[in-house]
Amino acid sequence: LALVLMAAGVVLVVREVRTVVDTVGQVDFDRPLVVPRLAESRRDADGRRVFDLTMQRGRTDLGRPDPTPTWGVNGSYLGPTLRANRGEDVLVNVTNELGEDSTLHWHGMHLPPEMDGGPHQTVANGATWSPTWRVDQPAATLWYHPHPHGRTAEHVYRGVSGLFLVDDPAAAALALPKKYGVDDVPLIVQDKKFDGSELDESDAPFRNQGILGDQVLVNGTPGPYLDVTTERVRLRLLNGSNARIFNFHFADDRPYLLVGSDGGLLPEPVEVRSLELSPGERAEIVVDFEPGETTVLRSAPLDSSEDRAAGADDRFDILEVRAAGRLTASPPVPRRLAPAPDLGGEEVVTTRRFTLSGSSINGDDMDPERIDVVSEVDTTERWIVTNDNGYPHNFHIHDVQFQVETVDGDDPPPAYQGWQDTVLLPDRAEVALLVRFSDYTDPDTPYMYHCHLLRHEDQGMMGQFVVVRPGQEAGRPSGHAH
Ligand code: C2O
Ligand code: CU
Repeated sequence: LALVLMAAGVVLVVREVRTVVDTVGQVDFDRPLVVPRLAESRRDADGRRVFDLTMQRGRTDLGRPDPTPTWGVNGSYLGPTLRANRGEDVLVNVTNELGEDSTLHWHGMHLPPEMDGGPHQTVANGATWSPTWRVDQPAATLWYHPHPHGRTAEHVYRGVSGLFLVDDPAAAALALPKKYGVDDVPLIVQDKKFDGSELDESDAPFRNQGILGDQVLVNGTPGPYLDVTTERVRLRLLNGSNARIFNFHFADDRPYLLVGSDGGLLPEPVEVRSLELSPGERAEIVVDFEPGETTVLRSAPLDSSEDRAAGADDRFDILEVRAAGRLTASPPVPRRLAPAPDLGGEEVVTTRRFTLSGSSINGDDMDPERIDVVSEVDTTERWIVTNDNGYPHNFHIHDVQFQVETVDGDDPPPAYQGWQDTVLLPDRAEVALLVRFSDYTDPDTPYMYHCHLLRHEDQGMMGQFVVVRPGQEAGRPSGHAH
């Protein structure tokens, strides 16, 4: 019987791969790209910028015969783009109308642990949670998404996420494209599977990494095209998928400039032709256009054959870009963008090792009652993360942007020369990260670190750390609502 089942499984996998490969070139690009609107905000009496977000259910036209049941924020799918300046205090009223408990996490944001929106900050169905913090980090493309214990994958997959853009005066002064929705365009890229008009949440057999779709949505738009009217366009890419690793390039293989990563602008622009982004990672790129031309943003198989398990053989046409017959001039991209990460010169007080295997870290599954790591505030640590597994993972740390010190013992590639909060770990890879926690200490309320392939995270590939004052001991995790 086992043999028969295995044989059936092989046939299923083969058929599935074919279907996916067959979709290449069949995208019609007949819908204008939807750009998430900027969230409205107001000032309260304390001078804080206040946003109101409601997580809700709805139905969305995703190009299927009927509208697809989806979840979103202030709408039926995805959510508005929040925007705040460095130094500003923000307050976000997060109301949960999903019909079940959830959370809302600010991915990439430096903030107190009780404001983080991780699994300990449950927003009960029907309740409103109002985190507040001072935005204090360089200009960057951050994002938000639910993080309920064991249910992150389905909540994100159904559509609850959006962008949080941080601005700062230094970045604002640079001659980079910055007109939101005109020459500075966010692209939330997500693969989906459908069963008729419904999102298919079942994991394919014999795939360990969670949902891999056969269709790509950008900002929730199927088959999108983008009209551009300027010579240069900045695209802010977010891999908002559950498990898919993308390798972005253009159909004509044109070079483009990589100018930013998870934590903000790179020290200097780097010319590339392709770029890998794993789930949760962001990149900002600047692309040049000639009047009247058209090209297609694609994802092609990854170079590293170890990544095949993550659907690396799948190819997608993602977005058609159409340049107008006359383009507004854009200034050249500056040669210097932002200070380089500077933790390399710091004394490393603690070195920790994290081995990713199966759906565990160092052999442990996530336990909300257990603190795995106690870090002392204002010290620099080296976190060595190894993938010991057979298929790809990545590694995300809450609260901080870290410096990638080495990848497999070498200097990091250009894409990892700025601040990161998530790094890709192909099979057998090892990264050394320099990490420094600052400002907020709380022995009782942990932050998370985890694989951002959401099924792995839900299955327990996650740990908890607290940041304490010198000499302080870890307390008991609090605030966890069951
Ligand atoms: Cu993007 Cu712990 O999450
Ligand atoms: Cu993983």
